[in-house]
Amino acid sequence: MNISKSQVESIVRKIVGEMAPAAKTSAGVPKTAKVAMLTAPKKIEVKEFPVPALEDNDILVKVEGCGVCGTDVHEWRGDPFGIIPVTLGHEGTGEIVALGKNIKCDTAGNPIKVGDKIVTSVISCGECQICRNHPANTNLCDKQGVFGLIPHDDAQPLTGWFSTHLLIRGKGATYFVVNDLDLKERMLLELACVCVHALKRANTTGLINFNSKVLVQGLGPVGLVMISVLRAAGVNHIIAIDGTQRRLDMAKKLGAKTVINFKELTSLDERVKLVKSVSSGIGADFAFQCTGAPAAAKDIYEYIRRGGGMCEMGFFVNNGDYTVNPHFAMCNKEINIVGSWDYSADDYPTTVAFLRQAREMNIPIKELITHTFPLDKLNEAMEVNVSQAGIKICYVAE
Ligand SMILES: NC(=O)c1ccc[n+]([C@@H]2O[C@H](COP(=O)([O-])OP(=O)(O)OC[C@H]3O[C@@H](n4cnc5c(N)ncnc54)[C@H](O)[C@@H]3O)[C@@H](O)[C@H]2O)c1
Ligand SMILES: [Zn+2]
Ligand SMILES: [Zn+2]
Repeated sequence: MNISKSQVESIVRKIVGEMAPAAKTSAGVPKTAKVAMLTAPKKIEVKEFPVPALEDNDILVKVEGCGVCGTDVHEWRGDPFGIIPVTLGHEGTGEIVALGKNIKCDTAGNPIKVGDKIVTSVISCGECQICRNHPANTNLCDKQGVFGLIPHDDAQPLTGWFSTHLLIRGKGATYFVVNDLDLKERMLLELACVCVHALKRANTTGLINFNSKVLVQGLGPVGLVMISVLRAAGVNHIIAIDGTQRRLDMAKKLGAKTVINFKELTSLDERVKLVKSVSSGIGADFAFQCTGAPAAAKDIYEYIRRGGGMCEMGFFVNNGDYTVNPHFAMCNKEINIVGSWDYSADDYPTTVAFLRQAREMNIPIKELITHTFPLDKLNEAMEVNVSQAGIKICYVAE
């Protein structure tokens, strides 16, 4: 049999390639990893699994922390997504301890190496009509996934950030190197991305300017970060509404000019009068609806001026209906309504820029993190979240 020189070279290259290690690793790759698995409603148990053998396209991350999202609490309460057993946690961050040999850069094209701090974003489907033909709207792909909402699989058990290690594996995974952000900023990144995306949606109306009067209704983590994003974007007059004094105080700290406690000012007419009194007598130019409460979603039209706008971002889950009179609420006011749903991977670099801007402007966004819990106390973390005793609750690895 005759073998040409080029064939010999190719065979040698293949053998040498196979001998090369599949992944660059630091000293920190363990044999096993722990996950806090939701095994039944309201039951998170810590379990240990072997770390799978690393493949060429894998990234193994040592988890440093992860925000607890309202979606996690929703799933913990009663498994509405039907994904139990599952390791939750999608607002996470950590340090790369092993990198498959094919991974040369992050999703934004930045170089990546063992030791880098990293966050994950969405897992894109890339194949549906939306992904193929509407690349600016991949957040609307029905199959868009995220680490932290993937049902448990023994073969790859490290799919959620409520764990000691996360294994980034699989087609469509997106991730970003964020070495210059500190742990708190990195744990707030995913939440901030929801609000950065909402501002992008609101900006399609052209109604948000330096002199706009902008109302934010609902001051949970979403509403408070929305205020921070608006401040960083140069909006000076923000009107904030909630029923919890601690949250209203935080809104003031973040830069809201007017705060309204709807539990003290119980009449809608009185609240509308107050909003108009601080917005040129006509009402807010734009409003962000950040509660999941149908009653609040109905009221918001009253605060908005004719020709104003509204972004509905508070109903990530189905909390029911409300009724408005479309003549008064929408048509006669010629209102500009946008919905905002999640975010796309390309909102991440913008959100990193927002976090840097917030730092430069001394917007105290990190004060939103009021409670942290270790891996074996995540049921408690969920309960504190439900009780609204704090603002942003996070898991922080020990
Ligand atoms: N659009 C998205 O992509 C997206 C992403 C994540 C969460 N969300 C949704 O955003 C909403 C807010 O999330 P969160 O984590 O901040 O929740 P949260 O429950 O902590 O905050 C909601 C706030 O609304 C306030 N509120 C309730 N009724 C009110 C009323 N009538 N007037 C004014 N304030 C009222 C509550 O006091 C609370 O502070 C949730 O419903 C969630 O589903 C949307
Ligand atoms: Zn979330
Ligand atoms: Zn798709």
